[in-house]
Amino acid sequence: MNEAETRAWKALEELPKPRLADLFADAGRVERYSTTLDLDGGAIRFDWSKTHLDDAAIAVFDDLAAATDFPAKRMALFSGEKINVTEGRAVQHTAQRGVGDEGAVDEAGAFHARMRALVEAIHGGLLGEVKHLIHIGIGGSALGPALAIDALARDISLVDVHVVSNIDGCALEAAFAKCDPATTMIAVASKTFTTIETMTNAASALAWLGENGVSDAYGRVVALTAAPDKAVEWGVDETRVLPFSESVGGRYSLWSSIGFPVALALGWDEFSALLAGAAEMDRHFLTSEGAANLPLRAAYADLLYTRQRGCQARAVFAYDERLRLFPSYLQQLEMESNGKRVRSDGTPVNGPTAPITWGGVGTDAQHAVFQLLHQGTVITPVDFIAAIQPGDTLDPAHHKILLTNCFAQGAALMAGRDNADPARAYPGDRPSATILCEEINAATLGALIAFHEHRTFAAGVLMGINSFDQFGVELGKEIAKSIEAGGASFDASTSALLEAAGLS
Ligand code: F6P
Repeated sequence: MNEAETRAWKALEELPKPRLADLFADAGRVERYSTTLDLDGGAIRFDWSKTHLDDAAIAVFDDLAAATDFPAKRMALFSGEKINVTEGRAVQHTAQRGVGDEGAVDEAGAFHARMRALVEAIHGGLLGEVKHLIHIGIGGSALGPALAIDALARDISLVDVHVVSNIDGCALEAAFAKCDPATTMIAVASKTFTTIETMTNAASALAWLGENGVSDAYGRVVALTAAPDKAVEWGVDETRVLPFSESVGGRYSLWSSIGFPVALALGWDEFSALLAGAAEMDRHFLTSEGAANLPLRAAYADLLYTRQRGCQARAVFAYDERLRLFPSYLQQLEMESNGKRVRSDGTPVNGPTAPITWGGVGTDAQHAVFQLLHQGTVITPVDFIAAIQPGDTLDPAHHKILLTNCFAQGAALMAGRDNADPARAYPGDRPSATILCEEINAATLGALIAFHEHRTFAAGVLMGINSFDQFGVELGKEIAKSIEAGGASFDASTSALLEAAGLS
């Protein structure tokens, strides 16, 4: 860490800690900390006024951004430099959306053209009748497609998609129960094409097709992967292998051929709109400076809470049923990217890194976990995500109650309320941010996801972290393999558990 970074972190620790009520004495605060981005798919308002960011904090973070060379690091992301230093790779998810290094953008365009041809061939009936797709993948190969389909394919779905990730056979059986084998295709989505859960589920899905009268089960399989040779070796016909680049990280891969089920369910135009919405956010992130840059400003607030105010968690509540999977999507994005304890150069980080991201859907969560947010001893910054236009056609009372509750929670967290009875008193001064979309559609969803990708990257840069590796997941996988192989010895507790389950 250079001296300027050390100075900025020290300055952050020494900053005063104003209360939100004091910050709101500034009549211009809402205007300054609420920004509306006018996107093609509809405006999105990012209201960070109910966080504790103020001019002094922003000045410190601007210094930190300068000290960490944030503008150059951002440019390195977009220009295809090998910023994933531990794995020696470029990081090219933005190129999938057409923003980035020319060669990578061209390559992504070629892969998309191949994917589009297959999607349209299926829609055109060239592969027989296809009513269902079982999309098999895990982590980044499942969470993005599941989110996008759940959000966008409620009313119109050209093909009925079931995303299966868990190795627990109950997950796959549940999908089988909803699909007719004669009209079902299987997508095997795996960047590496080696992930045990995915490969085991894929083999079982193939067997299910075969056992249920499909004579050419392999002929019903599509592979989405950065390891096309392995897919062909596994038995997928080369014409149904949709490759993507090694430099697209798993949790950033929705935009690549991993998005195949989204295009199949919604049609190519909608998938393109998803990419276009994300590209609009890319351009904002690339060209805006300091706190005017929305993902960077969000990262400033995130670090204010983890580093200055000791908040170890951040909660995200989607006040929109269509976005109910958003919190789990964000969990992987943020916790796998920034849940690290060393900096890119291997030296220890100088404080907490990614907070624990958790959340749920409003208003359900109000009746379950909000007690802790209002009166618990742990202060948890909250993000609310909502849309002005409803997703339903029922009595407008539904949407009105949904939105008023969302805004009421932010107000209540901030204002609190005194009471002579301590059990009934609310301390208030609890931070929240609100993202208010004009509507939820492919373009705004793309922009929302890209906003969070860049927020995560920006926080990583400010902390000196490589947000693009995930070595923390490897040890458990290795131990599982050695258990399976047998002969290895483990601690007494693990040995006893294995014995109790008949696995030793
Ligand atoms: O184990 C973690 C992880 O590597 C994630 O980063 C990734 O999204 C997931 O597993 C699935 O990997 P793959 O797409 O290679 O099957």
